[in-house]
Amino acid sequence: MSDFRALDRAGFDPALAEYTGILGVDVAPALLALSARIESRKKDFEPENRATNRVRSERVALQKTVHGASLAAARVFRLARRGGRDKDHVMDADTTPHPNAQMHEYWNGLAGEKWVRLEHRLDESLQPFADGLFAAARLHSGERVLDIGCGCGATTLESARRVGPEGRALGVDISAIMLTRARERARELGLGNATFEVVDAQSDPLPAGEFDVVISRFGVMFFAHPEAAFANLLSALRPGGRLAFVCWQKIDANPWMFLPTLAAMQHVAIQRPTDPHAPGPFAFADADRVRGLMERAGWRDVTTSRFEIPFAAGGGGSLDEAVDFMMEMGPAAQALRESDAATRARVREAIYETMKPFERNGGVLMDAAAWIFSARRA
Ligand SMILES: C[S@@+](CC[C@H](N)C(=O)[O-])C[C@H]1O[C@@H](n2cnc3c(N)ncnc32)[C@H](O)[C@@H]1O
Repeated sequence: MSDFRALDRAGFDPALAEYTGILGVDVAPALLALSARIESRKKDFEPENRATNRVRSERVALQKTVHGASLAAARVFRLARRGGRDKDHVMDADTTPHPNAQMHEYWNGLAGEKWVRLEHRLDESLQPFADGLFAAARLHSGERVLDIGCGCGATTLESARRVGPEGRALGVDISAIMLTRARERARELGLGNATFEVVDAQSDPLPAGEFDVVISRFGVMFFAHPEAAFANLLSALRPGGRLAFVCWQKIDANPWMFLPTLAAMQHVAIQRPTDPHAPGPFAFADADRVRGLMERAGWRDVTTSRFEIPFAAGGGGSLDEAVDFMMEMGPAAQALRESDAATRARVREAIYETMKPFERNGGVLMDAAAWIFSARRA
């Protein structure tokens, strides 16, 4: 239930809470948390008066974005209920034969190409999550590592370096295009103990008992049947082997994605899965649910820790580059591909205005919140 009075006290229009139910998250706590985080940053900026202005501009951007988006969301919702044009953007049920077919298409198409093109920027901005992951995985020299959804291979290559020539690292992924780049990188770096294979980690058999450690950086949230996938991953480990992965907390704890999404919603209807656990970047936001499915799949000693950092949003790069990234990769991407140039320009401007107050040292720094999970095979 939204806290109207608290919204009012924090300077937000309390009416926001009524409209934004459509977003699928209770927007009041998310806004209050964002607002508190902005306030708490005051002390980070010098001199004092410049700091106050910057904090104020972040707050104003936040309010403008959310207010506009909430009105637009209500409009889209009404149109959809009346059978209007925007209904087409409401996500359809998956009727494809392979349970992960949509993901195969997505990661072998536009998304895969984009990740290859932006490899360096993405790796730089995601590096802190790799650091958190490796701190949890505690790799030793000589160990055999399996990296799930390894993409262009950054964490597989890092694993290969950490376990040394006596150990080895296998990166698996459904995206052939990203694995081609990963193999190229291994060759460039002369890391002969890093190999890559096209494998669906949910449905393809993995070599039984062959690995000491399974890791993943944001590669395990895309399974149609996560419990089956986690049982499959378990089978690849030797008894006593370990698992560590990092995944996103809920979208409203991640302003780097939440705010540009709200901004885009002012102008386009965004696909919103009716199931919050549907495969996608935020599918593992509910840590208790994930722990439950891992335990049912046979994992032991499942632990979760919060990993919350200021994050080089939009794949790193300048403000303009970060905005372009959110246009192509964020939840608005599909709707934008089907939009005319004028709509795209309006969305771009709205995202730009939303991200601008977070510009720092030539990039955009916004808060991000992930979970780090650890577990072991009995
Ligand atoms: C967000 S990207 C992360 C890539 C990489 N781990 C990184 O941090 O740079 C998610 C990756 O998971 C892969 N993926 C999605 N579903 C998969 C599946 N069923 N089996 C294996 N990989 C999968 C995608 O192809 C993509 O490369």
